[in-house]
Amino acid sequence: MKVLVAYDGSKPSKKALDKAVEISTKLGAELMLLTVTEPVCPIGITEADCAKMDEILKKETEDVLNNIKLDLEKKALKVKTLVKKGNAADEILKLAEKERIDMIVLGSHGRHGAKKFFLGSVSSRVSAHAPCSVIIVK
Ligand SMILES: Nc1ncnc2c1ncn2[C@@H]1O[C@H](COP(=O)(O)OP(=O)(O)OP(=O)(O)O)[C@@H](O)[C@H]1O
Ligand SMILES: [Mg+2]
Repeated sequence: MKVLVAYDGSKPSKKALDKAVEISTKLGAELMLLTVTEPVCPIGITEADCAKMDEILKKETEDVLNNIKLDLEKKALKVKTLVKKGNAADEILKLAEKERIDMIVLGSHGRHGAKKFFLGSVSSRVSAHAPCSVIIVK
């Protein structure tokens, strides 16, 4: 069994990670940890410099995920980490299809607004289109 947790570093996604760890431990599932970096290239910055910024961002994100992985491996969990570039909901959905994920766990909100009444756009799109069950952690 495979559980995918979408992690954007926000407080709700940290709660989602905790829940995913709890579920994976109980079910003996493999945990996949995914962060999607959304490319930004401000006006006036060359494409080459933007590519460098993307590379740095990717590396930093990989380090964050690796630290989480090391921590979880101490609890005997099987963990894989992935950093993808693009649109968050699209990449989460693509990975779920490709890896035949059994369950996706994400936060109700993310970095943009824990106080909003409706679900965030990523949790809303993923829950609508996922090929598997989705747990939205509040
Ligand atoms: N870039 C990302 N990479 C991985 N997971 C993400 C990413 N963005 C969001 N998520 C996941 O989706 C959950 C909900 O975040 P979402 O982006 O939908 O809310 P928001 O940031 O409050 O609102 P919005 O982005 O629509 O303005 C997060 O808790 C996290 O689990
Ligand atoms: Mg967001």
